[in-house]
Amino acid sequence: MKPGRARRRKGAHRSARSWLSISVNDFDAKARSWDADPAKVERARKVAELISARVPTLAAARVLEIGAGTGLLGFALRDPAKEVMLADSSPEMLAVATERLRASGACNVAIVGLDLEKDQLPAARYDVVCALLVLHQVPDTDALLRKLHGVLEPGGYLCLSDLEVENASFHGAGFSGHNGISREGLRDAIQRAGFTDVQFQPAFEIRKPVAGTFRSVPAFLATARRSRSDTL
Ligand SMILES: C[S@@+](CC[C@H](N)C(=O)[O-])C[C@H]1O[C@@H](n2cnc3c(N)ncnc32)[C@H](O)[C@@H]1O
Repeated sequence: MKPGRARRRKGAHRSARSWLSISVNDFDAKARSWDADPAKVERARKVAELISARVPTLAAARVLEIGAGTGLLGFALRDPAKEVMLADSSPEMLAVATERLRASGACNVAIVGLDLEKDQLPAARYDVVCALLVLHQVPDTDALLRKLHGVLEPGGYLCLSDLEVENASFHGAGFSGHNGISREGLRDAIQRAGFTDVQFQPAFEIRKPVAGTFRSVPAFLATARRSRSDTL
């Protein structure tokens, strides 16, 4: 592959409407208005800044963003990184990401439909795997972390930003994911999956109207590394 260019997998950049095997999720309905919220844009920018500070080799890095949605974080990383692959299970989120990609003319970004629970991760290896507000959406954290460990190069970085534990009012009734993520529990899970050098830092806060008032929920960035001595 030429330096600085990501080869688009055959079919990876097709219309999101053709991902018929991917079930529609709640985010499809939110996709068109997602990027109009300045808070979503700002938190992606902030997390990209923190990842850039944590990964000294970012300029040479192939980055996989899981649960990338419309690509706010991935596009914030496309200049500092070598290549970025955006993966998500929502066809409508990916349709917006695809429009962004076409409008930008970026040649180091690619897009793939991927359900983290049902699908294999891409066969390629990455130097950085990142996610913004995705971990709490996926019920089996251990299974996800094992998959992410497997897709990283030895020495590669895991960068997961998510909500601190909250009292379940944030998502409301009917939400089947985690009501935030415990740092202690996540640290243990990351280590169980085989990662080393686990670090946490504050990332941003989400303000959301709940029951007539505004609630603020803080979010962290957790980073860890696949050991350099791991064999593939
Ligand atoms: C809260 S949104 C965050 C989107 C994006 N990371 C951002 O911050 O703008 C969560 C994203 O995770 C995706 N997602 C949820 N469950 C998923 C799964 N099992 N596999 C792949 N993506 C998933 C949703 O489609 C959605 O785009």
